[in-house]
Amino acid sequence: MVRPQRALKDELAHARLSHRVHARAGGGALPALRRETLGLKGRGDEPLELAVARAGVEVFCLGETVAVPLFKVLREGCTVPVARRALDRILRDEVRHRDFGWTLLRSLLELPCAPAVRRMLDRELHAMFARLRGSYMPPAGAKRAAIPDDDRAWGLMPVARYGEILERAYVPRFGEHGLDAAAAWRRSASASDRPAAPT
Ligand SMILES: [Fe+2]
Repeated sequence: MVRPQRALKDELAHARLSHRVHARAGGGALPALRRETLGLKGRGDEPLELAVARAGVEVFCLGETVAVPLFKVLREGCTVPVARRALDRILRDEVRHRDFGWTLLRSLLELPCAPAVRRMLDRELHAMFARLRGSYMPPAGAKRAAIPDDDRAWGLMPVARYGEILERAYVPRFGEHGLDAAAAWRRSASASDRPAAPT
């Protein structure tokens, strides 16, 4: 059983390790986190389980699931010790976070709210994928197939590889729960071409 408190502690440690790498690599000041983007938002009078499902799927089933293959590839070419230490720890922990997400989804789909969770995912999964694409995938035509060895040693990879990894990460896992992620992924391609909604 994966405990959410453990995942939270892991994420705070990852943030500290990543900030250390950023500083040692000569990175400048980072923008402050915005409080209003961090909360668990309910919508109107919908049951709390739907808000949990929405956040759990987007953060853990999407974000943490793709983090595992992404960090695995980043770590492969990473030789700068401070970055390698960070990636060693992050990769180990992300497996636990990914597993928490799918355990959470399985539990929600065993509750009476399951039909509502499925309907919510039918409506919203493609938009979650579109946000993920926006975070990781390069715009069409901006593919960059190679990066300098020095960058690779710090644990970076060409942006084009992010897209390849993303496409393979989800479909079978959602399929195990009877959810058609392939269709949502295809829909997300056109959604991500549109400009993001103002926040
Ligand atoms: Fe994580």
